Amino acid sequence: MLSFTLTPRCSLSFLGNHPSGLAALFARGAASGIAALLLSASSYAFYKWYRLSHVPGPFWTPYSLFKLLSRGRMYEDLPALDRKYGPLVRIGPNIVMYSDPETFGRVVGVRSPYTKGSFYSSVAIPPLVSNVFSVTDAEEHKALRAKLAGGYSGREHGGFEPAIDTIVATFISLIESRYISAPGASRPFDMAKRAQFFSLDVVSAVSHGRPFGFLRRDEDLHGFLADTDMYWPLLALVVCIPGLTGLFSRWPFRLAMPLVDDESGAGAVFGFVRDSVTERLGSGKRGEDMLQSFIDAGMSRYELEQELYVETLAGSDTVATAIRMTLLCLLTSPATYAKLQSELDAAAAAGAISRRAGVPAAVPPATGLMTKVVPPGGDTVQGYELPGGTELAVNIVGLMHRRDIFGEDADVFRPERWLEGGGDGARVRRMVSAVDMVFGGGRNTCPGRTIALIEINKLIPELLRRYDMAIVRPEKPMRLFHGVFWVTNDFFVRFTRRETGQGP
Ligand code: HEM
Repeated sequence: MLSFTLTPRCSLSFLGNHPSGLAALFARGAASGIAALLLSASSYAFYKWYRLSHVPGPFWTPYSLFKLLSRGRMYEDLPALDRKYGPLVRIGPNIVMYSDPETFGRVVGVRSPYTKGSFYSSVAIPPLVSNVFSVTDAEEHKALRAKLAGGYSGREHGGFEPAIDTIVATFISLIESRYISAPGASRPFDMAKRAQFFSLDVVSAVSHGRPFGFLRRDEDLHGFLADTDMYWPLLALVVCIPGLTGLFSRWPFRLAMPLVDDESGAGAVFGFVRDSVTERLGSGKRGEDMLQSFIDAGMSRYELEQELYVETLAGSDTVATAIRMTLLCLLTSPATYAKLQSELDAAAAAGAISRRAGVPAAVPPATGLMTKVVPPGGDTVQGYELPGGTELAVNIVGLMHRRDIFGEDADVFRPERWLEGGGDGARVRRMVSAVDMVFGGGRNTCPGRTIALIEINKLIPELLRRYDMAIVRPEKPMRLFHGVFWVTNDFFVRFTRRETGQGP
């Protein structure tokens, strides 16, 4: 093993026999250099602090973003920030956060002068290589989105439903074959893992025509989940804290990050995507999937690999979180659960199954900062002057908990609020448009929204119609770490067949 130690021998010995003269000169030079550096660093820090010092925020502002991310309880910290400090909160030297729909509309609007912030460029794979999410140049982004549009619309390859139906059927087969509980025989099913097996299989089936096989093998293939669970908390810090991205893209820090060439974890899944692209381009055969639409739109091999991989990352954890949280909310609200189940039964009996499930407003699955940069001339947001270059982040969790939109009981899972007053009118329209913001807006609206909603709206009703579900450990339904990414584990659910015999 190599070890490097600094010994007194290596101190100023190269100055030879004149230590008092040259060494003193050197030491004085070094001391003034350090003093100058410290002075300019502290002036810069003061300048950074001063230019946004009028925006309220925790007194530990320089560290608040770090604290938010590392505590892992953003789902409760973000609404609390909003309620304590008001509509605009400073969470970092150059980052302020808003939580109102009006600012959201203005900032993300199609003609908005705001540009993508540092959060985006840090999501390049590998760092510093662009894809539709990470690219910050507006024209480049527009061109990429145009190439992706046909594939994401589903129009060019027969839509997403057939592939999603197949994966839902695989999910049901898995439960039927191994996880039906009965009196005296409990067979807990870890929904935390399986929800993501489901979303990963769907995303690979719709994007390149073959599911990864997580559900069929009922196994965390290549340790993908174990790998991402381990990396998400670190990755959250790296992508959200400006400065860390640059650091972690350099040797030796970059060795701490997942690499696309790794043989296990996220790297192995990237390998699977790359093989699919190589095979398709090499064979010359056409497919009925998004990959084919992207090829037809003229994307290069390199672009195809990047976009399919981004799609895998963007479309798996988010959908899995939506499924887990929707189920958690339903399973802990027995009256709502029973009502939904009987509505689904009635609709099925009438041959008109409706898509009632959805993303519960209070638990948005994509909670990245999605910072946008204030244009050079500056802007006024919620009455605060913001200088050009300030990064403006959306507090999407805070937005989903706003009492002026969702009512005084905004923190409570109570879907009946959507039906009150006839389920229409200005109040409901405002809630609907707020909830839609979980998918972003304007130029950056999530292109996978349709796919996500089909997945959620197919799987959840199917489970409710076929089974009675119960949480195995009511005192601790799941383990959760929420620092931008949701790391969810041990959500054990018990399935029993329904006595009414609903289902296929
Ligand atoms: C419930 C599930 C999902 C939620 C809540 C969600 C939310 C979001 C949000 C908030 C953004 C960023 C908007 C912004 O930059 O301001 C985004 C971008 C994106 N999403 Fe989703 N997403 C979901 C599912 C999916 C799925 C299933 C896919 C793919 C199959 C997908 C692919 C993407 C891509 C490629 C982008 C980058 C778009 C761009 O920057 O132009 N997402 N999503």
